[in-house]
Amino acid sequence: MNYCGVVLAGGKGTRLGELTRVVNKHLLPVGDEPMVYHPLRKLVGAGVRDILLVSGPESLGDFIRQLGSGKALGCSLTYRAQDEPGGIAQALGLAESYCGDRPCAVLLGDNVFHDALGPLLQRTIQNSDHAWIALKQVHDPSRYGIAELQGHRIVALEEKPREPRSDLAIAGIYVFPPEVFALIRQAKPSARGEWEITDINRAFLEQGRLQHVFLEGYWTDAGTPESLDLAKQLVKSTPPLF
Ligand code: DAU
Repeated sequence: MNYCGVVLAGGKGTRLGELTRVVNKHLLPVGDEPMVYHPLRKLVGAGVRDILLVSGPESLGDFIRQLGSGKALGCSLTYRAQDEPGGIAQALGLAESYCGDRPCAVLLGDNVFHDALGPLLQRTIQNSDHAWIALKQVHDPSRYGIAELQGHRIVALEEKPREPRSDLAIAGIYVFPPEVFALIRQAKPSARGEWEITDINRAFLEQGRLQHVFLEGYWTDAGTPESLDLAKQLVKSTPPLF
């Protein structure tokens, strides 16, 4: 399957306070390398060579200085500016012309996880016209998008619910068919003014076209001081599989 990769590395990064006054969150270190190397190495390890990196115009120059063409990482990088941080779905929408008729493997730039991406991508091939999400049990579900299951079937998705009906977080690892871009164009911003990826996944669910996998190893975001520390500890004690 000829997947294109998309790494979303925009957003405000305000939850990290002084650490991100000048430096983009995804350029902070996790292990021996800047955070953004993590999703890039996951994609490259899964055989994805063409990768689009989306970030804000104030940071794109830093990413280009850091990563260049992508050659040193074994990929070909293209960069696109998200003028305002209007949400994950908006950022993904910027990848439409880049992806064309290829399915896309999308990673949030602040997600750090143990599982290799290759086997996950292999699973998606059996239903390549469906959207795929990755789930992980967490102890603080109201921080995340949440999936409610009945048996093996997802019955509902919610973004950061106050009273979560499940503890299954939706990780920032998604695989979409090209139709995702039409759904993004039709979507509306949420109450917090963002184009939510959970709304797009819900649209696939309503069409009966949403599949899921469970992550086996650790998973965390690294967008708060606590979760950034956790990501560093996890990577140090158990290096991620690429
Ligand atoms: O980490 C997984 C969670 O990520 C999911 O469970 C949620 O469903 C999803 O909405 C998201 O929640 P967060 O509130 O943690 O997302 P955050 O705003 O921190 O952004 C996550 C990544 O997406 C971050 O690495 C930067 C990128 N991003 C975000 C926004 C809002 C962009 O590239 N552009 C944006 O406009």
